[in-house]
Amino acid sequence: MRALVTGCAGFVGSHLTESLLSDGHDVVGVDCFNDNYARQQKLDNLRAGQDWDAFQFVPIDLARGDLDDLIAEVDTVFHLAAEPGVRTSWGARFETYVRNNVSATHHVLEALARHPGRRLVYASSSSIYGQAEKMPTREDTLPAPYSPYGVTKLTAEHLCAVYHANHGVETVTLRYFTVYGPRQRPDMAFNRFCRAVLTGDPVVLFGDGNQSRDFTYVADTVAATRAAANRSVAAGGVYNIGGGAQVTVNDVLETLEDLAGRPVPLTRARRESGDVRHTGADASRARAELRFCPQWSVRDGLEAELRWMQQLLAAV
Ligand code: NAD
Ligand code: UGA
Repeated sequence: MRALVTGCAGFVGSHLTESLLSDGHDVVGVDCFNDNYARQQKLDNLRAGQDWDAFQFVPIDLARGDLDDLIAEVDTVFHLAAEPGVRTSWGARFETYVRNNVSATHHVLEALARHPGRRLVYASSSSIYGQAEKMPTREDTLPAPYSPYGVTKLTAEHLCAVYHANHGVETVTLRYFTVYGPRQRPDMAFNRFCRAVLTGDPVVLFGDGNQSRDFTYVADTVAATRAAANRSVAAGGVYNIGGGAQVTVNDVLETLEDLAGRPVPLTRARRESGDVRHTGADASRARAELRFCPQWSVRDGLEAELRWMQQLLAAV
């Protein structure tokens, strides 16, 4: 496979890049070092891929750059570049969400329409469901985003469907459910909780902690993403990718305290706008068609993220 990974310097994209390279595939990685978190963390994420000769990094902005040459030379596009994060998608920042989630995806799809025969795996999000009425949630549930971020991720899903229907672009959409593990973004819960338990600096718990997520370990997410590139998987499909258990934030904090052997220092604040109460993936379609079977428990995955955070803090 010769793959294009967009968002290759990000959390999930850097793991995907490494996984492809270590199995002997060629990877062209694209990232523009968007300012959602420190450039240094993204440079560190990139470093592992740069050990391989089969890796080529192209620092362009997908919302603006000319993508034809890039798309022409690959057979598979993993489109992970985006403006992520639910709680920060309000106010003036929304324009950046539209640009990086909608316009960038549109540019990728336009280039793919001009270069038929390539597969696009699009990283969508559980946020398109909003406050889902049924748990676990199936893919045929009517989407009802609850945050501006979710609106942009759903818009990009619709664009994938439109380019598939009109131009035959081979799209496969994956709805990731809250991904965690080493290199997780610094705005996300596990990253902040691990940092707090190690440094003693308090972290804010939003709401009562009884909100739950179908937390998914990053290696499981990568496995599903790679499976979606297989041509035996029909184009046009949409799949939930969840970790296999619905866990509350309070459960996570308790597990972390047990792993670290000390309390997580907390302050409390109200629930944040856009934050849904529960997410839960019905992943039976992914299990049947992608052979997706998550391998990581939250306890083991959280321990791996805690160890990574320990190393990160020791290095500064
Ligand atoms: P991330 O911010 O770590 O990675 C995204 C990368 O995309 C960043 O490095 C950023 O610089 C790059 N980027 C953004 N706009 C770009 C543009 N216009 N051109 C080129 N590069 C651009 O985020 P992540 O957590 O790794 O998320 C990866 C994908 O998975 C995103 O599409 C996100 O919406 C989706 N997703 C993530 C989660 C999660 O829990 N992390 C859950 C559901 C869906
Ligand atoms: C995550 C990602 O950030 C989104 O990019 C992604 O699209 C989404 O998952 C998804 O599944 O689609 P979120 O579920 O908010 O969003 O992930 P976390 O940041 O890990 O938050 C989990 C819970 O912890 C939330 O209820 C949040 O309010 C809470 N939290 C988070 C805190 O209490 N304190 C914090 O400092 C951070």
